[in-house]
Amino acid sequence: MLRWDETIFRSEDVFDPDFIPDVLLHREGQLSQLTASVMPALRGGSPVHTLCLGPPATGKTSSVRYVLSQAEGVRAAYVRCPAFATAYRIMAKVFEDVCGHQAPQTGIPYIKLFQKTMERLDRPLVVVLDDVNFISIDVVNELLYLLLKAPEEYGVKLGVVAIATDIKFPLALSPEVGAIFHYTTVHFPLYGREEMRDILRWRVEHGFADGAFSDEAFERVVELASDSGDLRFGIYLLRAAGLNAERRGSRRVEVQDVDAVYAGGAKIFLAKSLSALNSDEREVLKIVYLLDEEVAAGDLYRFFQKEVGMSYQRFYEILNKLERLRLVDFIFDRKGRGKTRYVYKRYDSDVVLGALREF
Ligand SMILES: Nc1ncnc2c1ncn2[C@@H]1O[C@H](COP(=O)(O)OP(=O)(O)O)[C@@H](O)[C@H]1O
Ligand SMILES: [Mg+2]
Repeated sequence: MLRWDETIFRSEDVFDPDFIPDVLLHREGQLSQLTASVMPALRGGSPVHTLCLGPPATGKTSSVRYVLSQAEGVRAAYVRCPAFATAYRIMAKVFEDVCGHQAPQTGIPYIKLFQKTMERLDRPLVVVLDDVNFISIDVVNELLYLLLKAPEEYGVKLGVVAIATDIKFPLALSPEVGAIFHYTTVHFPLYGREEMRDILRWRVEHGFADGAFSDEAFERVVELASDSGDLRFGIYLLRAAGLNAERRGSRRVEVQDVDAVYAGGAKIFLAKSLSALNSDEREVLKIVYLLDEEVAAGDLYRFFQKEVGMSYQRFYEILNKLERLRLVDFIFDRKGRGKTRYVYKRYDSDVVLGALREF
């Protein structure tokens, strides 16, 4: 049994959502592309505009932050967009990162604030707009226009690194912005099961005492994380299972700990994805999870057409969004002459339906 002052954790920090490990496994290509974008700034030149695209939890934020932390001497402003939603909030964060103190709370338009920031700039600047597809496209267009015109307007060197989960993001930009936003794209594909295993293994080795996480429990975490397609969920499960083992007074994390936290954890976890859906989208998701088996997308559509009279195009947009958010999976199967797309569940039905009821 575990004494009250004992712990099976070596370090709980490595499970923090903001923790950046000193090694990012399986991201060599992305890291060198990003380094190449930032490097010119070290020599006093212009950073290369860069767009990072990929589903959630594919290491976009970590890779960009890692490269910036390595590029000592490069001036960078980092803005996580959902938290600073208005143009003013975003510019205020840029001001803060450049000037080292808070921006005035009110009173001046954000364009003025930007102008002040540019006047204070003494070397090349990298502006990171993380999760940029979460803010309104009008705001994005306004901001990008301002940022991209800055070299011309203020004689500064400035590069934008935009991070988005939506591959369609570039299409949403206005023609004015499109005409001046020339960027290199860095793609972040989903991690495969083996890649997830390597990454999660590193966390276990650094986060838990030797032998404190049983191999079976670890394999279970890898399986659940790779089924959900979400590495972040795997990291969450490691820590939560560890806490569960400690609560039982056990020195070792076993499969039962992983299973115990899975249902509750998945629910909290899903709540985040579900909050990004509107009511039509949640309805489609619900139907998918109410069905016993996988279903051909066409059959699902006929059902919807009857029940709610949704257009074909809208329906397919919704399915694609659910797939992008890793809530459902598609599998293509050759049937007769054409290819049929089947929609699969990624989570237990009980877990998803339970989470949906809370909306
Ligand atoms: N290649 C990697 N090696 C180690 N940890 C990683 C790697 N990629 C992602 N992570 C971890 O997974 C979680 C999600 O990564 P993050 O960079 O926030 O993804 P994104 O910004 O694409 O949503 C974080 O806890 C991060 O530390
Ligand atoms: Mg991110």
